[in-house]
Amino acid sequence: MHLKLILVLFYVLVVLSAANGILGYGEDQQLFSFRKHSLFPYNNGSSSCSFQRSRKQNGATILEMKHKDQCSGQVKDWNKRHKEQLIADEVRIRSIQARIKNMISGQSEIISQARIPIVSGVRMQTLNYIVTVTLGGKNMTVIVDTGSDLTWVQCQPCRLCYNQPEPIYDPSYSSSYQNVTCDSDSCKSLQSTTGFKGVCTKEKPSPCYYTVSYGDGSYTRGDLGREQMILGDTNVSDFVFGCGRNNKGLFGAASGLMGLGRSGLSLISQTTDIFGGVFSYCLPPTQGDSSGSLILGGDFSAYKNTTPISYTKLLSSPQLSTFYILNNTGASIGGVPIQSPSFGIGGILIDSGTVISRLPPSLYKAVKTEFLKQFTGYPPAPSFSILDTCFNLSAYDEVNIPTIKMQFEDDVELTVDVTGVFYFVKSDASQVCLALASLTYENEIGILGNYQQRNTRVIYDTVQSKLGLAKESCNFM
Ligand SMILES: *[C@@H]1O[C@H](CO)[C@@H](O)[C@H](O)[C@H]1NC(C)=O
Ligand SMILES: *[C@@H]1O[C@H](CO)[C@@H](O)[C@H](O)[C@H]1NC(C)=O
Ligand SMILES: *[C@@H]1O[C@H](CO)[C@@H](O)[C@H](O)[C@H]1NC(C)=O
Ligand SMILES: *[C@@H]1O[C@H](CO)[C@@H](O)[C@H](O)[C@H]1NC(C)=O
Ligand SMILES: *[C@@H]1O[C@H](CO)[C@@H](O)[C@H](O)[C@H]1NC(C)=O
Ligand SMILES: *[C@@H]1O[C@H](CO)[C@@H](O)[C@H](O)[C@H]1NC(C)=O
Repeated sequence: MHLKLILVLFYVLVVLSAANGILGYGEDQQLFSFRKHSLFPYNNGSSSCSFQRSRKQNGATILEMKHKDQCSGQVKDWNKRHKEQLIADEVRIRSIQARIKNMISGQSEIISQARIPIVSGVRMQTLNYIVTVTLGGKNMTVIVDTGSDLTWVQCQPCRLCYNQPEPIYDPSYSSSYQNVTCDSDSCKSLQSTTGFKGVCTKEKPSPCYYTVSYGDGSYTRGDLGREQMILGDTNVSDFVFGCGRNNKGLFGAASGLMGLGRSGLSLISQTTDIFGGVFSYCLPPTQGDSSGSLILGGDFSAYKNTTPISYTKLLSSPQLSTFYILNNTGASIGGVPIQSPSFGIGGILIDSGTVISRLPPSLYKAVKTEFLKQFTGYPPAPSFSILDTCFNLSAYDEVNIPTIKMQFEDDVELTVDVTGVFYFVKSDASQVCLALASLTYENEIGILGNYQQRNTRVIYDTVQSKLGLAKESCNFM
């Protein structure tokens, strides 16, 4: 009897400590297997990006979303590609910072453009995710961007168009196309939407000429139009978009861009009566043939989240009305809380277009120090572009990575997916870098980039001004 009791107690103890061990382990570290997470997107010509699927589920319209790297043809030199991507990412960040500075000081956008270095030969590689919509009856594959508002496509007759796989949209063949005139509210709202005033001419009625500049030398210019747009099988009539007659920048496989920012002309503002001002996405990693989804509308049944959704409020700043900004209140590495004076101040901008998250210098330093303390024993590797915490992991089949978490106001937590911690510079894993970088100045705004948003359902509720986060393994079907 005595012995039995001791045995039972012993058994309970063993079970308890085992459970504890697993819990503690699962929480603080994530196993990264090099074989399972094949490092580079394969593209043997089987996947095509000319058409992304869509479906409807209850009140939600679901568009398949892919990473451009999965369909931009064979990449010969990944090193070069990665370097260019990070240069482009840095240019995007500098442009966002300059834009914010000007928005706050009330200066016109044009001044900021002069200060932004134009990097020639850099592809528009930061805006990575694409969906397909139908505009005026034609399939159009467009880049998804939460950091800008105007949706546009390349348009005939075109003064300057980059190469695109799909035929260029031609309004003269569309019976549902209409011009937007210069005296319309849409034209007047261009200043707040794009930073550039709509331009009128002496023609009567005058078309409304727009310009959007993305700060890396890429831009689109043209005139506003209205057209019938079909998202999945949801019909949006009189959708205001940019007919781009002069477009520069290699927007890759895309015919244009979908603006999902927070202000007037953005797609989500124009469809509030249909989708209730709610959209969400799940950004898939580039590895393998994964696909994600862009869901328009707030029907919960369309999500495949594996943790409950929790919401944090979007900070409102009248000057930065385009952007989605969160209150970052904390962070932890492998369960160890990070201390930083930057928490709770200024906010962090969540962006689908930026690749690598940028943290205030003091916070980045604290994160890096703690990460290096826990991820020990691995041979270091040289820095790569903006990434300065690199390792040579070519001798390993798998590694345990300290879990990175970020906290936001209202007790919301983002656990960075295991595929969003390291940036693989070299395919043999001889140069693998922590996918986080430092801002230049303490007072610049932090950015939550798309690498750290992978395999997460991110819900933007523009009406209730809140953002939801939950874990999800991205998959269109
Ligand atoms: C392309 O590669 C994938 C994964 O390796 C494989 O499943 C598929 O059959 C290949 N397709 C062709 C056309 O070779
Ligand atoms: C759009 O693409 C789909 C799938 O490839 C195709 O079935 C459909 O006919 C296309 N629509 C038009 C108008 O080209
Ligand atoms: C729209 O405006 C353009 C530019 O002025 C003009 O060439 C075109 O004919 C107009 N289209 C319609 C449908 O009014
Ligand atoms: C979309 O709506 C417009 C205007 O209501 C209508 O003319 C058109 O036939 C509709 N298209 C589809 C595909 O439902
Ligand atoms: C962020 O949240 C913290 C904690 O709730 C609060 O004290 C702080 O004022 C908030 N910051 C902003 C900019 O709203
Ligand atoms: C990386 O580590 C492997 C095995 O430890 C070694 O053979 C290789 O030379 C290292 N590569 C570089 C670029 O340092």
